[in-house]
Amino acid sequence: MEGGTVVSGDPSTGTEVRDARREDLPQLLAIYNHWVLTSPATFDIEPLSGEAWERWFEGHRAPDRPVLVAEAAPGGGGRGRLLGGAWLSTWRVRPGFARTAESSIYLHPDAREQGVGRALYSALIARARSLGLHTLIAVITPPNPGSTALHRSLGYERVGMTREVGWKFERWQDSEIWQLMLDRAPRPADRRTGR
Ligand SMILES: CC(C)(COP(=O)(O)OP(=O)(O)OC[C@H]1O[C@@H](n2cnc3c(N)ncnc32)[C@H](O)[C@@H]1OP(=O)(O)O)[C@@H](O)C(=O)NCCC(=O)NCCS
Repeated sequence: MEGGTVVSGDPSTGTEVRDARREDLPQLLAIYNHWVLTSPATFDIEPLSGEAWERWFEGHRAPDRPVLVAEAAPGGGGRGRLLGGAWLSTWRVRPGFARTAESSIYLHPDAREQGVGRALYSALIARARSLGLHTLIAVITPPNPGSTALHRSLGYERVGMTREVGWKFERWQDSEIWQLMLDRAPRPADRRTGR
């Protein structure tokens, strides 16, 4: 989806959340590649090329696989500067899994711990609900206190852990599986105001 629709604005964080557009891809890739190089939060090992990122974006054209971005809003000192992105991906390909998606989020390192993650991920969860999805899966490589706190705060529960499934930074890494039941979970209170 490439509508560029504004999903939410948040004066407290100076953030606007909207659907990603093709022109966002270079900034979004720079953010993602930062974490590729510095963190086991993603199991890409080498920075992705622009062409690979374009293909990835093409794979998210279906309405039920949105890519949302958070942008510094006008007056926030930087129209056009991307603060991060969050998206839904196919969790498993067989048709019976169609109402489950994997959620992911990556912020610019300077945009962390200011409520941007909450604003962006809340919008993604709201979109998942509006799409009629049943549940979201998130995969967290421990330890990741920021990601753990964000997911817990928005209602995800840790439902399992797979041991030593990824190899990065010269060691085996575990993966925690976190899950949000969209049909049952109470909607997290909108606590963005006042931050
Ligand atoms: C994980 C990430 C998206 C969190 O976004 P953020 O904007 O920093 O989070 P927010 O400021 O919205 O905070 C959300 C909650 O997490 C808490 N939190 C954020 N960073 C934290 C940290 N380092 N340690 C402990 N708690 C933290 C906040 O206090 C807040 O808690 P509350 O809801 O109870 O008030 C961001 O740190 C990031 O992009 N990290 C690198 C990439 C990554 O790990 N992605 C996740 C892959 S699974």
